[in-house]
Amino acid sequence: MIILAPSLLAADFSCLGRQLKEIEDGGAKYVHMDVMDGHFVPNISFGLPVVQSLRPHSGLIFDVHLMISNPKIYVADFARAGADIITVHTEALWHPDEVMDVIGAIRASGKKAGISIKPHTDVASLFPFVPYVDMILLMSVFPGFGGQKFIEKSLSRAHILRDFAIRTGAELDIQMDGGITMENVRDVVKAGVNVVVAGSAIFEAADIKAETARFIDVFSEEKLQNNVF
Ligand code: DX5
Ligand code: ZN
Repeated sequence: MIILAPSLLAADFSCLGRQLKEIEDGGAKYVHMDVMDGHFVPNISFGLPVVQSLRPHSGLIFDVHLMISNPKIYVADFARAGADIITVHTEALWHPDEVMDVIGAIRASGKKAGISIKPHTDVASLFPFVPYVDMILLMSVFPGFGGQKFIEKSLSRAHILRDFAIRTGAELDIQMDGGITMENVRDVVKAGVNVVVAGSAIFEAADIKAETARFIDVFSEEKLQNNVF
């Protein structure tokens, strides 16, 4: 199943609750939440209080992308605030044992565990973790800002990871994040991605609900079977 995760970073922060409702009404099941600390990435977005205040107002799956240093010390807090999936960057961790530790902490908090890499990090560095995570997020722009141009090489990176998952029999969600639009989303899915993040493409549309539905329509089984992809 292919899932759309609209990215809150591109929403209007003066009415987040209402905009979440619009994507939910458009058929979205996930909302992607980019937490940035101004240290791991050169931008500051939002943190725990925003996740916590939105939780009672939304039935969406909160897909929290932590672009922060020292992610482990915040895992339990984000779990309590209402995250359903927590994704951390391996580049923010010094050693593979530390990555395994954070994955363990996320799982221990009862949430789904994801790991992510920036566009220049070797995809093969993730292979050892595949059996232990629910999702891998491949960044298709340099993390920090919405509205950037999609890096084409991300497609072959997704292919490599999906091939590895298939070869090893792993049930892995592969998420791609950054620069995804109606123009390139079919290529992204064809490359083996099944969780698609889209920020500006959704929230800058005149009709957010309709645009959400339009993306989801591309994913419909019938279209897949008819080889639209
Ligand atoms: C970038 C963030 C993305 C961003 C995507 O650092 O991780 O989730 O919101 O936005 P668009 O779809 O506008 O590139
Ligand atoms: Zn993100």
